[in-house]
Amino acid sequence: MEFSTDKFLFGGDYNPEQWLDRPDILEEDVRMMVKAGVNVVSLGIFSWAEEEPEEGRFELDWLADIIHNLYDNGIYTILATPSGARPRWLAEKYPEVLRVNESRQKLIFGERHNHCLTSEKYRENVAIIDKKLAERFGKDPAVILWHISNEFGGECHCPSCQAAFRKYIQDKYQTVDKLNASWWTKFWSHNYTSFDQVESPSPIGESSIQGLTLDWKRFVSDTTIDFMNKEVEALRAGGAEQPVTTNMMHDYDGINYGKMGQSLDVISWDSYPTWQDDTKVKIMENYSMTHDFMRCIKDKPFLMMESCTTGTNWQPYSDLKAPGQYTNEAMNAIAHGSESVQIFQIRQGRGSTEKLHGALIDHYGKDDTRVYKECEKLGNSLKDLKELLNTNVDSKIALIYDVENKWAAEGSDGPRNEGLPLRETAFKLYHALCRYGVNCDVIDEDHDISKYKILILPMIYSMRNGLEEKIKTFVENGGTLVMTYWTGITDENDLVHLGGFPHDLCDVAGLRSEEIDSRPDEHENYFVPVSGNELGLTNIWKCTKLFDLVRLTTAVPLMTYGEDFYNGKAALSVNAYGKGKTYYISADGEDGFFTEIMSKICMASGIMPYLDEMPENIVVSERRNDHATYLFIQNFGDHAEDIYLSETYSEIYPARSDEKFSGKLTIPRMGTVILKK
Ligand code: GLA
Ligand code: ZN
Repeated sequence: MEFSTDKFLFGGDYNPEQWLDRPDILEEDVRMMVKAGVNVVSLGIFSWAEEEPEEGRFELDWLADIIHNLYDNGIYTILATPSGARPRWLAEKYPEVLRVNESRQKLIFGERHNHCLTSEKYRENVAIIDKKLAERFGKDPAVILWHISNEFGGECHCPSCQAAFRKYIQDKYQTVDKLNASWWTKFWSHNYTSFDQVESPSPIGESSIQGLTLDWKRFVSDTTIDFMNKEVEALRAGGAEQPVTTNMMHDYDGINYGKMGQSLDVISWDSYPTWQDDTKVKIMENYSMTHDFMRCIKDKPFLMMESCTTGTNWQPYSDLKAPGQYTNEAMNAIAHGSESVQIFQIRQGRGSTEKLHGALIDHYGKDDTRVYKECEKLGNSLKDLKELLNTNVDSKIALIYDVENKWAAEGSDGPRNEGLPLRETAFKLYHALCRYGVNCDVIDEDHDISKYKILILPMIYSMRNGLEEKIKTFVENGGTLVMTYWTGITDENDLVHLGGFPHDLCDVAGLRSEEIDSRPDEHENYFVPVSGNELGLTNIWKCTKLFDLVRLTTAVPLMTYGEDFYNGKAALSVNAYGKGKTYYISADGEDGFFTEIMSKICMASGIMPYLDEMPENIVVSERRNDHATYLFIQNFGDHAEDIYLSETYSEIYPARSDEKFSGKLTIPRMGTVILKK
């Protein structure tokens, strides 16, 4: 089913069930939402206890009243299935719905997102309430989308999950011999003689068989997706006709989101930049990398399902967002393909853990707060940006960031157990492209790569499904490949490849990785340019953490190490292969290194930046369709920045004018300008 909208969605998670005894507040909420330009809310995410106060007794009239009152006021509903948290009666009557943790401790009732994924009783009860909701609201024009559960995640190690895991493993390997070979179990005499002996990994049991850990993660991910699919089936059985989504999370690695996305009609996710961790511009880039990842699941616009107007309650410090900062964060989501700006939460609840989490409406309850006024301006300005709907980001560059690779690489012991810089390396390369000023797709290993000019493989330790073949064809046909150390090491069972690394890509890279040195963070070596190198590199840059020692066959060195026993060995090289080229980066480097080489590699591949110069607090992104290109220029610094436009544009945000201009443009502090070409 397709999801499409004729307006930018603006609204967020709304919990009226907490205020049913305060009709005055519910009424004021609607007035304030309408005034702020809210056109959709997510309802019922944690309302199971109100919807089914005791087993088999359903109370949905209150929900229908809320939904229809909102609809009468121009506000649609994204209706949730309530499986993210269960009512007390359910856990009391069917204790098996609660989880057992990896240390085999049975959990007691409390918290949320803690149900057993395989429990038949849980699945049954979820299906009953989901079907009821669908029967009541499945054809209701007020409901435009289903929000399946909430932030699926976590795992359960109960007897039911063990049995399901055994079956999963048996179906996959068929014979115990195949299992033993795939998991390399002769190591420490851990051979299985029966599938009945298979147990999930545990700190009090097995944690040394890395093939087991990897398959367990696959099982948890597949089981979660299956659980979600059963929820969708229940909605359909109840007659629901609307599309479905579930809200995903930033860099969450418990689920293969690429696979999960196949069951969804639109991708949505919850974006909570942790602003205090770095400079604003770098934090925004880190989250735009996730926006790009989410967009690439379907190569389509997505929804930002949650975000926070100001401080949250769960970060180490709840830092307020400065004036303009939330608007800029929201515009960045749109710049990377979002068709919504959804807030968690519309109104703060009075008690429990999220009472101090930022919202549209705070405890004071009126519409003259700094935060409300900024949201009101944002919400109303989105009404003028309709022409951006259905435009997409058209990137010539892709970077592979794959969760199964992450499971395998991070689950492996050595060469670096203190912080394997996997996300970090991917982000450094992504950041380098942001600094150059072009978009980059973030894709998994299963994604098509044929349309790109540059493909980046940051630490793709484990490759599956014939990725090597796709890559060879890509380079043969003229693509530029950029690969780093620690790529092509193991197969999909985490068995190390024989015959040299990067497996099957040694001729594409023109080298063989012979050894890899791993040192503490403080240890430094240097990238030293080879004189006359074809990229024209002249700077010396620091390198740290991991140092690949490669033997070049056909590749040519562009930089060499400056120190240690591998002083003079290639640290960056290039190899011509077919009609294309491969650059091989042997070590982790400082930002300046990645920024310099990526800008030169882009230029060498004919990819020009959107702006001739990129001030350090500026980020840019393009959305386009067949008729127009929209350039978002955003300033995440605290002073205005001048940029220079070499092409002619008109402005559509914050001001709208048909006047065409080029040359100097000032982007205000914490401001966004959207230009049209
Ligand atoms: C998540 C959840 C919400 C809420 C917010 C708070 O994204 O989905 O229910 O807890 O975090 O930031
Ligand atoms: Zn379980």
